[in-house]
Amino acid sequence: MTNTGIVAIDCYAPQRVVTNDELSRFVDTNDEWIYSRTGIKKRHLSMGENTSDICVEVAKRLIEKTGTKPEEIDLIVVGTISPDYATPSTACLVQGAIGALNAFAFDVSAACSGFVYSLSVADKFIKSGQCKKAIVIGAEVLSKIMDWKDRTTCVLFGDGAAGALLAPCENGGILAESLGAKGEDALKLTASERKVENIFVEKDGENSNYLQMDGRAIFNFSTKVVPENVKGLMDKCGVSADEIKYVIPHQANSRIIDVVARKLKMPVEKFYLNLSEYGNTSAASIPLALAEMDKKGLLEKGDKIIIVGFGGGLTWGSMLIQW
Ligand code: COA
Repeated sequence: MTNTGIVAIDCYAPQRVVTNDELSRFVDTNDEWIYSRTGIKKRHLSMGENTSDICVEVAKRLIEKTGTKPEEIDLIVVGTISPDYATPSTACLVQGAIGALNAFAFDVSAACSGFVYSLSVADKFIKSGQCKKAIVIGAEVLSKIMDWKDRTTCVLFGDGAAGALLAPCENGGILAESLGAKGEDALKLTASERKVENIFVEKDGENSNYLQMDGRAIFNFSTKVVPENVKGLMDKCGVSADEIKYVIPHQANSRIIDVVARKLKMPVEKFYLNLSEYGNTSAASIPLALAEMDKKGLLEKGDKIIIVGFGGGLTWGSMLIQW
């Protein structure tokens, strides 16, 4: 059977870089607190580019580097929780902007698991033979849904986009996946609430437009579910930890990754981290890391890697990929 291969990967982050020190001029925080609790040193923040704008940059880069004609693309999926609009989808805006006339397009909402979920959906369209070329992007402009007065959240997140061009391949590519959700804890992480209000219904209380999070609960959830999820995937595939060259986790917090590595009995060096540079970029974080690794030449043909997302929903998902 045909597999889905990653033909190319690329990224785009807004130019403006904000260090912890700079942030502490606007928010009651400091570099020592942020870095020691999270591993974050800086983040890229949009100076006006919206989520679709940064996705379009990624899509253009992918098309250019692979010599693909926009009309050859038959699917565009964007994982995001910070779309420009509820409708049109971010993916449709990208489709229009790059002239991918033959593509159908939609967004996936799975927060920090958004890239893994989106890749999973695109994988099925390619494996079934319905699509030959798909673009999958994880992208967020989280700065527009941050409460910049809430130091417990605004220091953690950043803006960015990254994605992959997918096509059928004979060997390797996406080998297996394991996705999950825990809706009973859905309200531990919320953003952009919209209560019902119409001519017959008066809104019951204010909307909390901003991202809100029970940080401790998310920490505990992540350090429990991620090791179980990754171990379950490796067991299902009969792959040992030694055979995995890198684990590319969602980049939320280096302390979460330390615990995950310990629980999996894997050296922490196998976990690729770049959150010191970008902060938590939700759906963008895994492909941002992959794109950086690709640029550094860290990924060689045949390497087995695991990507693993976790976060709002609550959701999680891992994938075994042979590069
Ligand atoms: N700067 C300085 N002090 C801060 C601060 C900031 N940005 N944010 C919170 N604090 C203070 C708190 O007010 C509190 O002070 P107090 O003890 O006087 O009340 C103290 O620091 C400790 O706060 P607490 O929330 O207990 O810290 P923590 O050790 O749990 O760390 C997180 C907070 C958010 C870093 C941690 O819970 C975490 O990483 N959670 C996971 C979050 C995450 O990754 N979410 C996304 C997943 S997709």
